[in-house]
Amino acid sequence: MKYYIVTYGCQMNVHESEKLSAICEKMGYCLADKREDADLIVFNTCAIREGAEDRVLGNIGALKKLKKKNPSLIIAVCGCATQKESTANFIMKTFPFVDIVIGTFNLPNFEAYVNAVKMGRQMELLKEGEIDEEHSYKRTSGENAWVNIMQGCNNFCTYCIVPYVRGREKSRQEENILREIKEIVSEKKYKKITLLGQNVNSYGKDLSTPISFAKLLSDICQIDGDFKLTFMTSHPKDLTDDVIDVMAKEDKILKEIHLPAQSGNNRILNLMNRKYTREKYLSIIKKIRERMPDARITSDFIVGFPTETDEEFLDTCSLVEEVKFDGIFAFIYSPREGTVASKMEGQIPEEIKRKRVNILLALEKKIQLEKQKNSKN
Ligand code: SAH
Ligand code: SF4
Ligand code: F3S
Repeated sequence: MKYYIVTYGCQMNVHESEKLSAICEKMGYCLADKREDADLIVFNTCAIREGAEDRVLGNIGALKKLKKKNPSLIIAVCGCATQKESTANFIMKTFPFVDIVIGTFNLPNFEAYVNAVKMGRQMELLKEGEIDEEHSYKRTSGENAWVNIMQGCNNFCTYCIVPYVRGREKSRQEENILREIKEIVSEKKYKKITLLGQNVNSYGKDLSTPISFAKLLSDICQIDGDFKLTFMTSHPKDLTDDVIDVMAKEDKILKEIHLPAQSGNNRILNLMNRKYTREKYLSIIKKIRERMPDARITSDFIVGFPTETDEEFLDTCSLVEEVKFDGIFAFIYSPREGTVASKMEGQIPEEIKRKRVNILLALEKKIQLEKQKNSKN
């Protein structure tokens, strides 16, 4: 019996697919080379932008012919897109050949749903779940080992679906994180450890004995062994000086940080509920560069947020020009059902959004070329 997993979305999903793989292997399935050979196909989905969801739905449709060829094939759809009830119901209604539809909080019980398929199609969306402290992973990212330190997000940026599909912030106990990392290091297969969370800077705030993210980083660095440490994603409002200090101090921590700015305009940042200003963001960048002159800093931007004017978009361009990041992702704003921004007046027409993203991407290309030229000189 063979399984095949298709993963969409962010590193969190990639890592959760590593958990799903371990569950499948424990059940006696082994990895298929391609989906056509599988007896169990899992789609681990993403809902961050409309395009991400559309891609998932299109690809589920294409599984129909595989099910026809092999009626005992089990097809499961899980992850952030199916945590939304409307999408889960749509999949159940539109694709009768899908056997299991579950949300993000049901994942630890994946085995039970596969076993229950004999009794009929399974759909269940738990609304909340405890953080999964102990689970096996089949690590698939080469020399990098992902380690989840927290789940969920409390920030409710007005454009973002994540708090709705991943629930509130829940941190793992520090002792469990340290134990997992010691095990990873002792295997000697991994050179890099990447801590994962939607907002790693808030790590530990919700624990019964709160601890800071800086303390966690520092404690991990005390583990003996030859490894580098990095983390994602940081939120500018929570990136405190003690985190920058520990990054600068500890040789084990890579001097790189992904710090999504989203916009360079204060009115838009406020409408996005990001809770920092352009000036605050720039002051953090300054601090990072003072302490770590060679730090690699990357960012995310959203263009065409509701009511964004041409001038306000140009503030984003000027921020990108000013900071000269080591790389940016530029996204076209995508309204997500249930979020505050999707109900705002002043949605920007698609062609304007596309024009803006192209301008930003061209600027980014120019900056990277300049940087390459300068580093050669
Ligand atoms: N937790 C991280 C990443 C969240 S998703 C953070 O806070 O930064 C990754 C990126 O997707 C975000 O940084 C944002 O730029 C983008 N994004 C999120 N929602 C979006 C939406 N509705 N439309 C377009 N881009 C979006
Ligand atoms: Fe989404 Fe904002 Fe949370 Fe990031 S911090 S996951 S953008 S709500
Ligand atoms: Fe997508 Fe969920 Fe990640 S919505 S970006 S897979 S947290």
